[in-house]
Amino acid sequence: MADRTPEVIVALDVEKGDQARELVEGLVSAVDFFKVGSRLFTAEGPSMVKGLLTAGARIFLDLKFHDIPATVAGSVRAATGLGVQMMTLHTWGGVDMMRAAADEAAGAAASAGIERPLLVGVTVLTSLSRGDLEGLIPRDAEISDIALQLAGNAKEAGLDGVVASVHETPIIKQRFGPDFIVVTPGIRPSGAEVGDQKRVATPRVAAEAGSDYLVVGRPIIQALSPLEAAAAIKNELSDL
Ligand code: C5P
Repeated sequence: MADRTPEVIVALDVEKGDQARELVEGLVSAVDFFKVGSRLFTAEGPSMVKGLLTAGARIFLDLKFHDIPATVAGSVRAATGLGVQMMTLHTWGGVDMMRAAADEAAGAAASAGIERPLLVGVTVLTSLSRGDLEGLIPRDAEISDIALQLAGNAKEAGLDGVVASVHETPIIKQRFGPDFIVVTPGIRPSGAEVGDQKRVATPRVAAEAGSDYLVVGRPIIQALSPLEAAAAIKNELSDL
Protein backbone atom coordinates (compact mmCIF):
# COMPACT_ATOMS: atom_id res chain seq x y z
CA MET A 1 0.00 0.00 0.00
CA ALA A 2 1.19 3.55 -0.79
CA ASP A 3 2.07 5.68 2.28
CA ARG A 4 0.17 8.65 0.87
CA THR A 5 -2.43 8.93 -1.85
CA PRO A 6 -0.89 10.95 -4.68
CA GLU A 7 -2.64 14.07 -5.93
CA VAL A 8 -3.70 14.36 -9.57
CA ILE A 9 -2.47 17.24 -11.74
CA VAL A 10 -4.27 17.69 -15.08
CA ALA A 11 -1.97 19.04 -17.80
CA LEU A 12 -3.84 21.82 -19.62
CA ASP A 13 -2.09 21.06 -22.91
CA VAL A 14 -4.42 23.19 -25.02
CA GLU A 15 -3.86 26.27 -27.14
CA LYS A 16 -6.60 28.61 -26.01
CA GLY A 17 -7.60 30.11 -22.71
CA ASP A 18 -11.24 29.22 -23.39
CA GLN A 19 -10.38 25.53 -23.67
CA ALA A 20 -8.38 25.71 -20.44
CA ARG A 21 -11.23 27.45 -18.62
CA GLU A 22 -13.72 24.87 -19.85
CA LEU A 23 -11.53 22.00 -18.59
CA VAL A 24 -11.04 23.70 -15.23
CA GLU A 25 -14.78 24.34 -14.80
CA GLY A 26 -15.55 20.69 -15.53
CA LEU A 27 -12.78 19.19 -13.42
CA VAL A 28 -12.08 21.57 -10.55
CA SER A 29 -14.03 19.53 -8.03
CA ALA A 30 -12.60 16.20 -9.24
CA VAL A 31 -8.82 16.74 -9.32
CA ASP A 32 -6.18 18.53 -7.25
CA PHE A 33 -4.10 20.71 -9.59
CA PHE A 34 -3.93 22.03 -13.15
CA LYS A 35 -0.64 22.35 -15.03
CA VAL A 36 -0.06 25.40 -17.22
CA GLY A 37 2.93 24.86 -19.51
CA SER A 38 4.90 27.16 -21.78
CA ARG A 39 2.58 26.73 -24.79
CA LEU A 40 -0.60 27.92 -23.07
CA PHE A 41 1.26 30.51 -20.99
CA THR A 42 3.00 32.00 -24.04
CA ALA A 43 -0.30 32.23 -25.90
CA GLU A 44 -2.53 33.50 -23.12
CA GLY A 45 -0.30 34.96 -20.39
CA PRO A 46 -0.61 35.76 -16.70
CA SER A 47 -4.18 37.09 -16.90
CA MET A 48 -5.39 33.66 -18.02
CA VAL A 49 -3.58 32.06 -15.05
CA LYS A 50 -5.24 34.56 -12.70
CA GLY A 51 -8.62 33.67 -14.20
CA LEU A 52 -8.07 29.98 -13.54
CA LEU A 53 -7.00 30.72 -9.95
CA THR A 54 -10.16 32.77 -9.49
CA ALA A 55 -12.17 29.80 -10.78
CA GLY A 56 -10.78 27.81 -7.85
CA ALA A 57 -7.96 25.95 -9.63
CA ARG A 58 -4.68 25.24 -7.89
CA ILE A 59 -2.01 25.94 -10.51
CA PHE A 60 1.26 24.16 -11.25
CA LEU A 61 3.15 26.62 -13.47
CA ASP A 62 5.47 24.46 -15.58
CA LEU A 63 7.76 27.01 -17.26
CA LYS A 64 11.01 25.20 -16.34
CA PHE A 65 12.98 28.35 -15.49
CA HIS A 66 16.66 28.08 -16.49
CA ASP A 67 18.85 31.20 -16.59
CA ILE A 68 21.32 33.13 -14.44
CA PRO A 69 20.33 33.26 -10.73
CA ALA A 70 19.13 36.88 -10.73
CA THR A 71 16.88 36.34 -13.75
CA VAL A 72 15.36 33.14 -12.41
CA ALA A 73 14.85 34.78 -9.00
CA GLY A 74 12.89 37.55 -10.78
CA SER A 75 10.76 35.03 -12.68
CA VAL A 76 10.04 33.11 -9.48
CA ARG A 77 9.06 36.34 -7.72
CA ALA A 78 6.62 37.15 -10.54
CA ALA A 79 5.13 33.63 -10.52
CA THR A 80 4.78 33.74 -6.73
CA GLY A 81 3.01 37.09 -7.05
CA LEU A 82 0.56 35.54 -9.50
CA GLY A 83 -0.51 33.21 -6.70
CA VAL A 84 0.40 29.84 -8.25
CA GLN A 85 0.84 26.99 -5.78
CA MET A 86 3.68 25.10 -7.51
CA MET A 87 6.26 25.78 -10.24
CA THR A 88 9.19 24.17 -12.03
CA LEU A 89 12.77 25.20 -12.66
CA HIS A 90 15.66 23.37 -14.28
CA THR A 91 18.16 21.70 -11.97
CA TRP A 92 20.79 22.13 -14.75
CA GLY A 93 20.76 25.84 -13.82
CA GLY A 94 22.92 24.94 -10.82
CA VAL A 95 22.73 25.11 -7.03
CA ASP A 96 23.17 28.90 -6.85
CA MET A 97 20.32 29.46 -9.31
CA MET A 98 18.02 27.09 -7.40
CA ARG A 99 18.98 28.63 -4.05
CA ALA A 100 18.25 32.14 -5.36
CA ALA A 101 14.86 30.85 -6.57
CA ALA A 102 14.00 29.22 -3.24
CA ASP A 103 14.99 32.35 -1.28
CA GLU A 104 13.02 34.59 -3.61
CA ALA A 105 9.87 32.44 -3.43
CA ALA A 106 10.01 32.55 0.38
CA GLY A 107 10.60 36.32 0.44
CA ALA A 108 7.94 37.14 -2.16
CA ALA A 109 5.34 34.94 -0.45
CA ALA A 110 6.09 36.45 2.97
CA SER A 111 5.77 40.00 1.68
CA ALA A 112 2.50 39.17 -0.09
CA GLY A 113 1.18 37.35 2.99
CA ILE A 114 0.56 34.15 1.01
CA GLU A 115 1.79 30.58 1.35
CA ARG A 116 5.11 29.91 -0.35
CA PRO A 117 4.62 27.97 -3.63
CA LEU A 118 6.27 24.57 -3.97
CA LEU A 119 9.40 24.60 -6.13
CA VAL A 120 10.24 21.43 -8.03
CA GLY A 121 13.27 20.85 -10.24
CA VAL A 122 13.29 19.17 -13.64
CA THR A 123 16.21 16.72 -13.72
CA VAL A 124 16.68 14.90 -17.05
CA LEU A 125 13.78 15.28 -19.49
CA THR A 126 12.17 11.92 -20.19
CA SER A 127 12.42 12.72 -23.90
CA LEU A 128 16.25 12.52 -23.68
CA SER A 129 17.99 9.20 -24.15
CA ARG A 130 21.49 8.16 -23.05
CA GLY A 131 22.64 8.78 -26.64
CA ASP A 132 21.49 12.43 -26.52
CA LEU A 133 23.86 13.02 -23.59
CA GLU A 134 26.88 11.33 -25.21
CA GLY A 135 29.98 13.42 -24.65
CA LEU A 136 28.20 15.54 -22.04
CA ILE A 137 28.29 13.09 -19.15
CA PRO A 138 30.93 10.53 -18.08
CA ARG A 139 31.04 7.42 -20.28
CA ASP A 140 30.04 5.06 -17.49
CA ALA A 141 27.22 7.24 -16.06
CA GLU A 142 23.59 6.27 -16.57
CA ILE A 143 20.72 8.74 -16.89
CA SER A 144 19.47 7.67 -13.46
CA ASP A 145 22.89 8.56 -11.91
CA ILE A 146 22.65 12.03 -13.43
CA ALA A 147 19.04 12.43 -12.30
CA LEU A 148 20.03 11.46 -8.76
CA GLN A 149 22.95 13.90 -8.73
CA LEU A 150 20.69 16.71 -9.96
CA ALA A 151 17.99 15.79 -7.42
CA GLY A 152 20.67 16.00 -4.70
CA ASN A 153 21.61 19.48 -5.92
CA ALA A 154 17.92 20.47 -5.82
CA LYS A 155 17.61 19.28 -2.24
CA GLU A 156 20.82 21.03 -1.20
CA ALA A 157 19.52 24.28 -2.74
CA GLY A 158 16.28 24.11 -0.76
CA LEU A 159 13.83 23.02 -3.46
CA ASP A 160 10.82 20.98 -2.36
CA GLY A 161 11.35 18.15 -4.84
CA VAL A 162 11.80 17.13 -8.45
CA VAL A 163 9.97 16.01 -11.57
CA ALA A 164 11.06 12.47 -12.47
CA SER A 165 9.83 9.32 -14.15
CA VAL A 166 8.06 6.66 -12.10
CA HIS A 167 11.09 4.41 -12.66
CA GLU A 168 13.40 6.80 -10.81
CA THR A 169 10.91 7.62 -8.06
CA PRO A 170 11.73 4.80 -5.59
CA ILE A 171 15.47 5.51 -5.62
CA ILE A 172 14.91 9.28 -5.23
CA LYS A 173 12.60 8.65 -2.25
CA GLN A 174 15.08 6.20 -0.77
CA ARG A 175 18.00 8.60 -1.13
CA PHE A 176 16.34 11.90 -0.20
CA GLY A 177 13.53 10.86 2.14
CA PRO A 178 9.74 10.63 1.97
CA ASP A 179 9.18 14.39 2.28
CA PHE A 180 11.20 15.24 -0.83
CA ILE A 181 8.40 15.60 -3.40
CA VAL A 182 8.41 13.59 -6.62
CA VAL A 183 6.09 14.71 -9.44
CA THR A 184 5.68 12.07 -12.17
CA PRO A 185 4.41 12.51 -15.73
CA GLY A 186 3.92 9.61 -18.18
CA ILE A 187 0.84 8.25 -16.42
CA ARG A 188 -1.46 5.99 -18.40
CA PRO A 189 -4.50 4.19 -16.95
CA SER A 190 -4.56 0.52 -18.07
CA GLY A 191 -5.72 0.31 -21.69
CA ALA A 192 -5.10 4.01 -22.48
CA GLU A 193 -3.12 5.16 -25.53
CA VAL A 194 0.59 5.57 -24.74
CA GLY A 195 1.07 8.28 -27.43
CA ASP A 196 4.60 9.71 -27.56
CA GLN A 197 5.48 8.83 -23.96
CA LYS A 198 8.19 6.20 -23.67
CA ARG A 199 8.30 5.21 -20.05
CA VAL A 200 4.74 5.03 -18.76
CA ALA A 201 3.10 3.66 -15.63
CA THR A 202 -0.45 3.24 -14.37
CA PRO A 203 -1.68 5.46 -11.51
CA ARG A 204 -1.47 2.46 -9.16
CA VAL A 205 2.16 1.68 -10.08
CA ALA A 206 3.11 5.36 -9.72
CA ALA A 207 1.47 5.51 -6.29
CA GLU A 208 3.23 2.34 -5.19
CA ALA A 209 6.56 3.78 -6.40
CA GLY A 210 6.00 6.69 -3.98
CA SER A 211 4.98 9.46 -6.39
CA ASP A 212 3.35 12.46 -4.67
CA TYR A 213 1.75 14.08 -7.73
CA LEU A 214 0.70 12.40 -10.97
CA VAL A 215 0.68 14.61 -14.09
CA VAL A 216 -1.99 13.38 -16.51
CA GLY A 217 -2.66 15.08 -19.83
CA ARG A 218 -4.20 13.33 -22.81
CA PRO A 219 -5.85 10.42 -20.95
CA ILE A 220 -8.07 13.06 -19.28
CA ILE A 221 -8.26 16.05 -21.60
CA GLN A 222 -8.85 13.98 -24.75
CA ALA A 223 -11.34 11.58 -23.13
CA LEU A 224 -14.96 11.65 -24.30
CA SER A 225 -15.78 12.57 -20.73
CA PRO A 226 -12.78 14.20 -19.00
CA LEU A 227 -14.73 14.12 -15.73
CA GLU A 228 -15.31 10.36 -15.93
CA ALA A 229 -11.67 9.76 -16.88
CA ALA A 230 -10.47 11.85 -13.94
CA ALA A 231 -12.89 10.16 -11.54
CA ALA A 232 -11.69 6.72 -12.66
CA ILE A 233 -8.09 7.68 -11.86
CA LYS A 234 -9.06 9.11 -8.47
CA ASN A 235 -11.00 5.90 -7.73
CA GLU A 236 -8.06 3.71 -8.67
CA LEU A 237 -5.90 5.75 -6.26
CA SER A 238 -8.41 5.74 -3.41
CA ASP A 239 -8.63 1.93 -3.57
CA LEU A 240 -4.94 1.50 -2.73
O1 C5P B 1 -0.58 13.83 -22.27
P1 C5P B 1 0.41 13.37 -21.25
O2 C5P B 1 -0.22 12.68 -20.05
O3 C5P B 1 1.56 12.57 -21.85
O4 C5P B 1 1.04 14.75 -20.69
C1 C5P B 1 2.10 14.79 -19.79
C2 C5P B 1 2.47 16.19 -19.46
O5 C5P B 1 3.64 16.18 -18.65
C3 C5P B 1 2.79 17.06 -20.67
O6 C5P B 1 2.36 18.38 -20.36
C4 C5P B 1 4.29 17.00 -20.76
O7 C5P B 1 4.83 18.15 -21.34
C5 C5P B 1 4.67 16.92 -19.28
N1 C5P B 1 5.99 16.34 -19.01
C6 C5P B 1 6.35 15.07 -19.44
N2 C5P B 1 7.61 14.58 -19.16
C7 C5P B 1 8.48 15.32 -18.48
C8 C5P B 1 8.10 16.60 -18.01
C9 C5P B 1 6.84 17.08 -18.31
O8 C5P B 1 5.56 14.36 -20.05
N3 C5P B 1 9.67 14.83 -18.17
